[in-house]
Amino acid sequence: MGMQSVAVACGALALCLALTTATNPGFVVRITQAGLDYAQEQAIASLEKKLAQLKLPDISGDSRVLRVGKVHYELSRLRLRDFHLPYSRITPISNKGLQVSISNAFAELDGDWRVKFLFIRDHGSFDLKVENIYIKILLRLGSDTTGKPTISTPDCSAHISKVRVLFSGKLGWLYNLFHRVIESRLRKILEDKVCDKVAMSVYNELQTYIRTLPVTARIDDKIGIDYSLVAPPRATTKSLDADLKGEFYSLAHRSPVPFSPLPLAFPSDHERMVYFGASSYFFNTAGIAYHEAGALVFEITQAMIPKDVEFKLNTSVFSAFIPQLEEKYPNMPMKFRVSTPTAPFLTVGEGGISFQPIVDVQAYAIFPNSSLAPLFLLSLTGNVSAVINVRSGRIVGSLDVGRIRLSLKDSAVGTFQVRMMQSLINILTSSTLLPRLNARLDEGFPLPLLDRIQLSNILVRFQQNFLLLGADVRFQPRG
Ligand SMILES: *[C@@H]1O[C@H](CO)[C@@H](O)[C@H](O)[C@H]1NC(C)=O
Ligand SMILES: *[C@@H]1O[C@H](CO)[C@@H](O)[C@H](O)[C@H]1NC(C)=O
Ligand SMILES: *[C@@H]1O[C@H](CO)[C@@H](O)[C@H](O)[C@H]1NC(C)=O
Repeated sequence: MGMQSVAVACGALALCLALTTATNPGFVVRITQAGLDYAQEQAIASLEKKLAQLKLPDISGDSRVLRVGKVHYELSRLRLRDFHLPYSRITPISNKGLQVSISNAFAELDGDWRVKFLFIRDHGSFDLKVENIYIKILLRLGSDTTGKPTISTPDCSAHISKVRVLFSGKLGWLYNLFHRVIESRLRKILEDKVCDKVAMSVYNELQTYIRTLPVTARIDDKIGIDYSLVAPPRATTKSLDADLKGEFYSLAHRSPVPFSPLPLAFPSDHERMVYFGASSYFFNTAGIAYHEAGALVFEITQAMIPKDVEFKLNTSVFSAFIPQLEEKYPNMPMKFRVSTPTAPFLTVGEGGISFQPIVDVQAYAIFPNSSLAPLFLLSLTGNVSAVINVRSGRIVGSLDVGRIRLSLKDSAVGTFQVRMMQSLINILTSSTLLPRLNARLDEGFPLPLLDRIQLSNILVRFQQNFLLLGADVRFQPRG
């Protein structure tokens, strides 16, 4: 059922609450076919190495051979020399998972043979070429209770259609015997072993690797991001999509977010290997978390104003437009305390990210004994826009503020014309407040990336309600 029809069907029924509370993700990761192809290259190279380490059991038995009678045979010290997977393809299958098809794989192995018949014993060695190996693996992705991804192989089949034996020995019928045994028994063993190895590699390596997804990313001593999966990853016909919570939270005290993520209308782009959709929910929970953690409070003192700014934060300067200052607090240093009465609420649209924060600026005079006298409280608002980029696997940004509007909320030194203070506030904002905020935003916030993944060829685009990031990935091998 589409969102529209759910909404319509739900019009009258409170029952539908259960339906509509299905959580939308705050953050979506999409791996396109290009990304799956890259992942497959890496995974197949690793699987090739694993398969070459297959251990094969000895094979023995009795067989009746025409004109010879009962023959006891033994194949031992079977050793795979190599295993090649030259052609493979990975395809997302809607609602099922990922289908890995490997074709025309081939392997070479050798071993010893031994036969006993009548009173005769003979032995030698053999080489074996196994060709036209077809392997089909279904990978199913899921999520566990902690929101980490899981992966399993509900289905695997291996089929060998050609086996060529080369053996040392003089007896012609031996060739036929071994060919038959190898055809039937060794082939079966190999087919089973291949799938066992695949299942083990998926469990031991692939699963271990995908579980490096940082479902809780600690950002600093106050804030974390919750990147846990809200549902098992979804295969569509063209991609693998992972819906993540995408929520910032205060480490000290996590409170429920008073609004829900809106659905993200992901475009059908597929040039990049991976796309990230960061919803307005993601950014707004950042605002709430930082606000609640008290991280949006700044003090501005003289010491913080850059030396090259011709501006003294003292009552002599401000008494030019607040006469009472001169009488009550003559020539005293001042301090501003900047805070947000409510968490900033931002909107993401095709034009970018913007918000109109309301900021309180409380001015104080500082007595020689360092105690503070509250002077006045200003309320500031203005249009803030953000420039976003991705660097070193992190979303980085910087803010730009349009014209700032001032109003006087409270004063202990009489009323005055706030517009006289406009240019002073502009200077403080551009010289001190913004550079501090931007320095923090420039450190950025981690994207939900698996271990040892580097991003390149970054695309940044704003959509209705979310920020779309695209990138190609590179896996950095260890060491
Ligand atoms: C206040 O600023 C004025 C003008 O820059 C300066 O002459 C004065 O010395 C300053 N006073 C204090 C206490 O910093
Ligand atoms: C600091 O000095 C001011 C002004 O002289 C005075 O009113 C205030 O009580 C003093 N505060 C303390 C803690 O001594
Ligand atoms: C912010 O921008 C909107 C539309 O872009 C405009 O209507 C509004 O006046 C601006 N606010 C300020 C404080 O500049």
